[in-house]
Amino acid sequence: MCGIVGVLGNHEAAPILVEALKRLEYRGYDSAGIATVNNGTLRRRRAVGKLVNLSDLLVHEPLAGKSGIGHTRWATHGAPSVSNAHPHRAGAVAVVHNGIIENYKELRAELLNCGMEFRTETDTETVALMTERYLKEGLTPVDAAFTTLNQLEGAFALAFLFDGEEDLIIAARKGSPLAIGHGDGEMFVGSDAIALAPLTDRITYLEEGDRAVVTRAGAEIRNAQGDLVNRETKTIQIDAAQVDKAGHKHFMAKEIAEQPQVIAEAIRHYLPVEEDTVRLPGEVDFSQVDRLTMVACGTAYYACVTAKYWFEQIARLPVEVDIASEFRYREPPVPAKTLALFVSQSGETADTLAALRYCQEKADKILSVVNVPESSIARESDLALPIFAGPEIGVASTKAFTCQLTVLLALALKAACDRGHLSPEDMAGYATAIRGLPNVLSAALEQNEAIRQAAQKVSEARDVLFLGRGLMYPLALEGALKLKEISYIHAEAYASGELKHGPIALIDKNMPVVVLTPRDSLFDKSVSNMQEVLARKGKVLMISDQDGIDEAGDDVWCAIRMPKVKEALSPILYAIPAQLLAYHTAVAKGTDVDQPRNLAKSVTVE
Ligand code: F6R
Repeated sequence: MCGIVGVLGNHEAAPILVEALKRLEYRGYDSAGIATVNNGTLRRRRAVGKLVNLSDLLVHEPLAGKSGIGHTRWATHGAPSVSNAHPHRAGAVAVVHNGIIENYKELRAELLNCGMEFRTETDTETVALMTERYLKEGLTPVDAAFTTLNQLEGAFALAFLFDGEEDLIIAARKGSPLAIGHGDGEMFVGSDAIALAPLTDRITYLEEGDRAVVTRAGAEIRNAQGDLVNRETKTIQIDAAQVDKAGHKHFMAKEIAEQPQVIAEAIRHYLPVEEDTVRLPGEVDFSQVDRLTMVACGTAYYACVTAKYWFEQIARLPVEVDIASEFRYREPPVPAKTLALFVSQSGETADTLAALRYCQEKADKILSVVNVPESSIARESDLALPIFAGPEIGVASTKAFTCQLTVLLALALKAACDRGHLSPEDMAGYATAIRGLPNVLSAALEQNEAIRQAAQKVSEARDVLFLGRGLMYPLALEGALKLKEISYIHAEAYASGELKHGPIALIDKNMPVVVLTPRDSLFDKSVSNMQEVLARKGKVLMISDQDGIDEAGDDVWCAIRMPKVKEALSPILYAIPAQLLAYHTAVAKGTDVDQPRNLAKSVTVE
């Protein structure tokens, strides 16, 4: 969701703000804007569409000043338009906001009663107008902003900039992340550390309810109760190359290609070479657990559905998996001896965080599998398991998914050992196979050209079906999600066995059907379902290994060959062709791969 940045610097702020917004553009790209204070005067520039439109505007209408705030928007209240773009200004204050002010209607009514005028359809303008009202009543900028903040409900990260104040930004966090960056005589504010990476590596993360008075001398942070608090300043390690395309056409292509390396990193942490046991960064004893509840959204949810098979089959542990937005409002009972596990790349997804908070005090232990160790979900868990994927910039999740799967598989193996369902020999067998994954994934990536050619054909389809059985079923769901989100082709996934219970009616000579079917224990069943499609002239794109293709690939539309791998590991391997198929289809269709329409990464609103 929207990206925020702020600078109190020693150089012109506009180019720094625009560069930082580029690194935040993955959060939203409906419109963008900046405001600066120069010689005491607050001014702003805003443009609809991608950030490049704002850059172009600034060429013709530059903004001087060494202090400023900036924003890239993912629209919630009000369509993308210049008037709805941030920063929102009311008199002497400009505000940028990520999140939703839930009580904006009441606040708006109150402000209208006071004769204040609204010019936008946004909830954020309320914040600017309230602050302006308090400034007019004679409050200082800090008091005006704090008085406003005290009345806001909902989830937000906010930054305020004031006319006449060249050494002041007020930053506040409730529900949406916000980081303060410390430079030499300069200070920065950003939605995440990535935005600030080339500016500083010294970061203070605001905690829930914190407000910071930021000047070039530093940041004075108060908690929601108004008490001065000390928040740790960390030196973070995000090298600028990690947020670079490294010669690839898209971040998504780079992130798909990176999977052998990042998975190797995850394996190094969870299955150190000298041991054949799983090493976790904290204590979990699965022998004391009767049930596992897993909750997430989108791709992370499909990682959970995959892991359900592992926990149930290998560790014999009953698992419930749910979509966070359903779980949180269903208010399910959480029986004794339940371990709750939340999976999230960003660690900030609003629904997943709310589901986690629901389980606090109810579950025996809260675990999370996250890519951002400083995220809210990580911090509010009893134990956070990092996935070591590195920054994921492409909006469509790829390397985070396979790293999530790797960590979840390691966790399932730990559960199996704790519960006495895995012998040391079998555990060693898994460890060897998992350590071989980076090589196997590299071999899968070599099928890039074959998949690109298949994607040319798929790109002409209006609808696509994905089929899989067992561990391939959740992967079929993920494959369909990837395809629809970046190529805009309608795609659905079914468990192969479900096909004849309805969806088979869709099959005709125009329907590509992607069948994910390694030569595994369910292969014969899966092939029978594939034959049902072929019999109805469906175009089968079979993804299997050499044995599977030799045995059943004769009449298919096209076949993609994967290396052989231990059965339990196949979802991690088969994610590669599913991702590449979506990627090349989107490229063939000419869509915006890294920033697909209507989407944003890090969904910090419900
Ligand atoms: C799809 C995708 C989304 C995310 C979902 C959860 O490619 O990226 O479906 O998986 O929004 O996000 P996180 O993992 O950050 O909680």
